[in-house]
Formats: sequence, C-alpha cells, structure tokens
Amino acid sequence: MVPFFDLTKQYESIQPEIDAATARVLKSGWFILGPEVKAFEKEFAAYIGAAHAIGVGSGTEALHLALLALGVGSGDEVITVPNTAVATVAAIEMTGARAVLCDVRPDSMLIDVEQLARAITPRTKAIIPVHLFGQSADLDPILHLAHAHAPRIFVLEDCAQAHGATYRGKRVGAYGDIAAFSFYPTKNLGAYGDGGAIVTNDAALAERVDLLRQYGWRERYSSDIKGTNSRLDELQAAVLRVKLRHLDAWNAARRERAALYTELLRAIAPPREMAYGQAVYHLYVIQSARRDELAAHLQARGIGTAIQYPHAIHRQPAYANLGYREGDLPVAERLAREILSLPLYPELPLDDVRAVAQAVNEFKP
Ligand SMILES: Cc1ncc(COP(=O)(O)O)c(C=O)c1O
Repeated sequence: MVPFFDLTKQYESIQPEIDAATARVLKSGWFILGPEVKAFEKEFAAYIGAAHAIGVGSGTEALHLALLALGVGSGDEVITVPNTAVATVAAIEMTGARAVLCDVRPDSMLIDVEQLARAITPRTKAIIPVHLFGQSADLDPILHLAHAHAPRIFVLEDCAQAHGATYRGKRVGAYGDIAAFSFYPTKNLGAYGDGGAIVTNDAALAERVDLLRQYGWRERYSSDIKGTNSRLDELQAAVLRVKLRHLDAWNAARRERAALYTELLRAIAPPREMAYGQAVYHLYVIQSARRDELAAHLQARGIGTAIQYPHAIHRQPAYANLGYREGDLPVAERLAREILSLPLYPELPLDDVRAVAQAVNEFKP
C-alpha cells in the first residue's frame, strides 16, 4: 500500500519541537497577532529574500488582499491561468474584477507568455502567474511585459505551491510586485489549519495589507480604511516557525524522490523541469491519454493518486460567466483530462517510489 499522502510521518519526525512551540503559545495566553506571528513574518520574509511578509488567514485571502492592496477592483481585468486552484480565480472575482484566462505551455504546464501578451487589454491591471506543482513560471518575460506596459501592470505571484522554488537562482515570491503563499496543511510549508502570507518588497503595499487584514485598523477600534478579518493565528505561526527550519531539507527530499521517479519511469514521460530554476515538487504530475485507466491500475495495486485539477476553471459551472467555451483553452483542457499526481512527500520511502514507478511501467499506454 502506498497512500497518496501521509501527514502523520512529518509530525512524528518533529513532534518534540512542535509540542514545545504549541505549548509555548497555549501558556502565553496570546492567540491573535502576537509575537509568534511577528517573528514568523520576519523569518519568512528573510527566507524568501523579501523585505516584508504579512500573515493572513489563508492563501485565498492572501491573493484577495494582495489584489485589493494593488487597487484592483470593478472594471479591471486580471490575467491568470485556467489550470489552477479555484482560489486564484475566486480571489480575482472577490475584488469585482474580471478574470481573463490565458492558456499554458504543454511542456511546463505553466503560463504561455506569447498568449499572455495577446491577452493584455487597456483594462489589464494585474497578472497572476501561478507557480504550479512547485515550479516557477518563466518570470523574466512576464515582468518585462508587465512593467513595459503603460499604464504599468502589476505582477502578483501565486506561490501557494512553490515555497522555496527558485527562478534564476533566487526564491520565487520576491520577483513580482507582491506574492501570495498558502500554508494549507498539505503545502510544502503547511500549518495545522488554514494560513497564508503576503510577501512584498514594497513598504506601502505591506502597510496596506497589514491594515486590510484587520478591519483597516492602524489603531484599535478605529478603521482608517475598510478592511476585513484575515489573520494568521499565533498557534499556526509557532508551528510554521518550526517547520520553516526544515523546509529546505524537505524540499530536497521531494526533489530526491522526484529524481528517482524521473530516472525509473519508462513509457510515460516525466514532468519537465525547466532549466531556469529548481522545482520543489509540491506534486509530481505525469500525463497519460488513458489517465483514468492508469489511476485504476495503480489503485488496484494499492497505490493512491490524485488529480490536480480535474476541471479547468472555465469548465466549472460557477465560472460559466467568464464566457469561455470548450476548445478555447485547449492545452489546459487536455491537461485536465490527462494529468495524474503520483505519491510524493518528503517522508515517502524510496522503496515506495520504486514500487510506484514499477507499477506505472507495467501499465501499457
Ligand atoms: C495555486 C493555489 N493558489 C491558491 C490556493 C489557495 O490557498 P488556501 O487553500 O490556503 O486558501 C491554493 C491552495 O489551495 C493553490 O494551490
């Protein structure tokens, strides 16, 4: 039996550190926006190589508040991809802006920059490249397009699946005007509940997000601007501080397991790692025209798989309003039919990787 994912092994490997951190918070009696969140924000910003990090309630909220801080709203267009978590597009719509979808490259499964250039209109206010499955989008041409445009277009990196991934030697999250991270439990850096962060080098944007996440308060009980409640809590911050210290080792373990899959897979092509960076393999995603049969073949051998994501955003009922039809975004549509995520997490035994690869190789495509 090889489960798709197992979070208990990670806790077992760091239990004394986690238990000490959570006990410290429980004994302190301070649960919201206290010293743990402050310390985590400092440590996470330093890890990414950015000036500011602001802890918020989830990755979805990180995207939403980042867009609000950029001034995105009704009448604006924000370009992103159709093969992402629904959160990316939900966050755009929450601002009142229109989501414009741009197809992805068949090799990297990431935003296609030539199509992106064609999707820009005078209403385009921001672009959200999604660093999907742990691999950075090709940021240089995206930043060039956005910043050369008049008026300037903002770039918001969706880093929910890419904590620690690099692009041209530097970690993603500090390239764009602003970036959003999720700490959903299964992420490469995951809390024991919901959590998220916004990262930026821009002090004014950081201050705006800081206000937005708590009712627009600069001072308690007096709202300078209209805000909301989206706060990272002290318990999650204390957990994340422990886990951040292990993130590089865990990402290296993911890369080691991904490399072994890539070495062992025969008939089915491994995912392509682009030369411009190092992926952190949030997911290890293969493609097969007979994906459902392959998943059943693996299931029959006790191997768990998953599909991220089985429906492109524009093919989901809630997003019919975006106005796309089947065939409009053919690469993302094909990927939704053909992708399959194999088991991959830092503690996955290497023998399990070998067993999964062998079972995949026994499937006749
Ligand atoms: C690419 C992407 N963006 C945004 C999110 C939203 O994060 P959260 O679940 O923390 O709201 C996720 C995770 O679900 C994601 O994978």
